[in-house]
Order: sequence, then C-alpha cells, then structure tokens
Amino acid sequence: MDPALTYSSYLRVDDLLDLQNPRSDGPEHDEMLFIVIHQVYELWFKEILHEIDRVKRLLEVNEAHRAQHTLKRILTILKVLVAQLDILETMTPLEFMSFRARLDAASGFQSDQFRQLEFTLGLKSRQAIERFTAGGRAHAALEQRFTEPTIWDAFLGYLAREGYAVPDTAVTRDVTEAIKPSEEIQQILISIYRNDPKNSEICERLVDLDEGVQEWRYRHVKMVERTIGVKIGTGGSAGAAYLRSTIGEPLFPDLWEIRSRL
Ligand code: HEM
Repeated sequence: MDPALTYSSYLRVDDLLDLQNPRSDGPEHDEMLFIVIHQVYELWFKEILHEIDRVKRLLEVNEAHRAQHTLKRILTILKVLVAQLDILETMTPLEFMSFRARLDAASGFQSDQFRQLEFTLGLKSRQAIERFTAGGRAHAALEQRFTEPTIWDAFLGYLAREGYAVPDTAVTRDVTEAIKPSEEIQQILISIYRNDPKNSEICERLVDLDEGVQEWRYRHVKMVERTIGVKIGTGGSAGAAYLRSTIGEPLFPDLWEIRSRL
C-alpha cells in the first residue's frame, strides 16, 4: 500500500529544499537569497505560462468572463514579480560582488521561460531559440511557442467571433511575425471602448498586462544599475544599456495608439 499522502510528500518538500546549491566559498551569505529568488521567479513564470495558455483557450471558446478572471490572476502574479525585486535590492553591490564571479556566464538572459513568456505575448525571435541546445526541453518548448498564436491573436479571433469586422489579414497573419499596428483594428477598438463595456474590460486587462511587463523591465534595470552600475552582464550583454533598450516598445501597439483618440 502507498504511504499516506502528507504535506511533504505531495509538495516534494525534500526535493525542493535540496535544489539550492551555492557555488561560492564559505558559502557567501547572500548567495542563498540570489538562488532562492531566481527559483521563485522561475516557478511564477511557469504558473503565468500555465494561466496564459488558459486565457487563450477560453478566448477561443468565447468564454470572455472566465478569460478576464484568469487575466486578473496573471496580473496579480505580475505585481508580486515586480514587488519581489525589493527583496533583492536589500543586497548591496559589495554583497553581490562577493559571489558574482562564481556565476560564470549564467544570467537571467538564459531564462527560457522568460523567452516563452515573451513569445506568448508576441515578442518572438528565432535567434532566442537557437541559444538553447537542440533536443533539450527549453529548445522544444520555445519551438512550440514560436509557431503558436500569441495572446493577441487569440483576442483578435475572439473579436471576430463576437461579430467585429477583424480583417482576414489579421486573423490569418503569420503568428511568428511581430505584432504590427493596424488602423482597421484601431477603429474596432475605439468602437469597443465607446460602446461595448464587456470587451473594453478585456482590452483594459491587456493594457495592464503590457504595462505590467514594462514595469518589471523598468524595475529590473534600475536594480541592475544600482547593483552593478555599467558593468557588462554575466550573460555577455552590455548590461544596463542593453536592458534599457528593451523598455518602451508596447506589446499590443493598437491598444496604445487609440488612447489619444478616445
Ligand atoms: C543582482 C541581481 C541581478 C542582476 C545584477 C541582473 C543583471 C542582469 C543583466 C546585466 C542582464 C542583461 C543580460 C546579461 O548580459 O547578463 C540581465 C538580464 C535578465 N535578467 Fe537579470 N539580474 C539580476 C536579477 C534577476 C532576477 C531576480 C531575475 C528573475 C528571473 C532576472 C531575470 C533576467 C531576465 C529575464 C533577463 C533577460 C532580459 C531581456 O533579455 O530582456 N534577473 N540581468
């Protein structure tokens, strides 16, 4: 007979607590925080991807209310992701330097789940896939998400089924390409904002999502600036300068373009 299920066996607590392995001599006190916080981020990335897949499925069957409810959950997690940076900012530059060299070339830049998240939101790049070993989990997951419709495509498909005249070119677009602004879609969105409270709420949640990701990028680059200044990143990029270049481009440009015309 199987042993009785317990808190520990269900959550695999022993395995979980065995996953933090500092590399510095000593080890340095702050390396534990650094490892734990990154692992927590990866778990939240996993959960967000799980929820985004649900939003897409719900939109595909026109379950607008539940899609919106799920979007709200994603946004609440995003807030936690941003807030967590406060904890890391309690680590001073010297505390970080005490173990930074032991990170070698490891960097958040190599987080495949962060790239998966970007892919689901429309920021796709073949180059990003090729950084991972062919045949591995990360490569396969990114390959799959590369060809899948983004959350924006799921939303446009939903609007078409709701009776809006979404152009065929938008519904059948190549989903591996970047999301580009469209005057026809902007006209539809303006009409939704003016006359359709149910769907304008979904638009607002997508704007929240777009803004939430930007907020994370902004807070991350500020944390990087205060921790390593203008040093190059362990992942080999220009560091803060590279990160700043990723801020500002909206995920869903049409939702921003219309704001001054409402
Ligand atoms: C002391 C703390 C941290 C420092 C100094 C730092 C530094 C950097 C730097 C310099 C980069 C640019 C790529 C490179 O050359 O390495 C980067 C990218 C990145 N970091 Fe951090 N990071 C820190 C904490 C975190 C945490 C806690 C996460 C959470 C997962 C994270 C996630 C990422 C991601 C996803 C990227 C890629 C961003 C993009 O390409 O747009 N970082 N980080």
